[in-house]
Amino acid sequence: MTRQLKHADYEAIHEFLERNAGIRLGPGKEYLVVSRLGRLLPTYELADFGELVTKLAGFGNSRLQTAVIDAMTTNETFWFRDLAHYRLLVDGILTETKPSRLRIWSAAASTGQEAYTTAICLQDAMQGGRISRNMGYEIIGTDISETALEEARGASYCGVSASRGLSDDQRRRYFREDGGCIELLPQYRKGISFRTFNLLKPFDALGKFDVVFCRNVLIYFSQERKRDIISRIARVLNPGGHLFLGSTESMSGHEDLFEMRNIGGGLVYRVRR
Ligand SMILES: C[S@@+](CC[C@H](N)C(=O)[O-])C[C@H]1O[C@@H](n2cnc3c(N)ncnc32)[C@H](O)[C@@H]1O
Repeated sequence: MTRQLKHADYEAIHEFLERNAGIRLGPGKEYLVVSRLGRLLPTYELADFGELVTKLAGFGNSRLQTAVIDAMTTNETFWFRDLAHYRLLVDGILTETKPSRLRIWSAAASTGQEAYTTAICLQDAMQGGRISRNMGYEIIGTDISETALEEARGASYCGVSASRGLSDDQRRRYFREDGGCIELLPQYRKGISFRTFNLLKPFDALGKFDVVFCRNVLIYFSQERKRDIISRIARVLNPGGHLFLGSTESMSGHEDLFEMRNIGGGLVYRVRR
């Protein structure tokens, strides 16, 4: 078995990922392909990357295709990421709109920290009387990576994901400690479900949402795909619904669909309907 990557194979893998997941690797990412896909070669009994490329193009290889996409996703996330967004949701949007029910989509949920942080912030605000205790909520977390979603569903975290973004106090309040690992308490898992979903596919089956988190995923996509996804998110938002992008991402070119709001140091986009 050889793990040398020919330029033509790199190009073919890049093209496959762009077409099927929207992910663009950018120049100089050969090392990433070698380290992430090299591991799949023995599992799928492939002699080299050339054979992997041939199999990817063939029919009846959906398991391999899924594994390649899964392995090439970057699932980096952490607890309370961009804290200003959660504060803005609770103390800006919800205290203003006072909904009786809330439907939230974590559109690139990865291992679940975004969806669970949202639930923690909602529950804290309800217990503290900042928003109605009777407000019902549903949070749907979706991602293209089944491996990431498996971890999300387990709500149990070890290593870096058991600490990144969390203070000692937060670890004690929201989790059960188990050795070096932590498990989210059941009350913060209520109302949350996870499902595999590719953002390139139509959104219709997901229903309508009041809030969408689509953070730190569009950076991997072309401008054209980014535009397409943002305009389709506008269509699944209920009137007055809000979209959060990653703190380093921008909404340029969609001012007709969304109005930018800057509340308490955080940015959010409200659909113009
Ligand atoms: C860097 S993580 C962001 C996680 C979280 N939203 C955050 O901001 O912390 C990006 C996630 O996007 C997912 N992703 C990449 N391409 C996707 C696609 N076409 N459809 C759905 N999810 C995708 C990856 O699997 C990965 O888990």
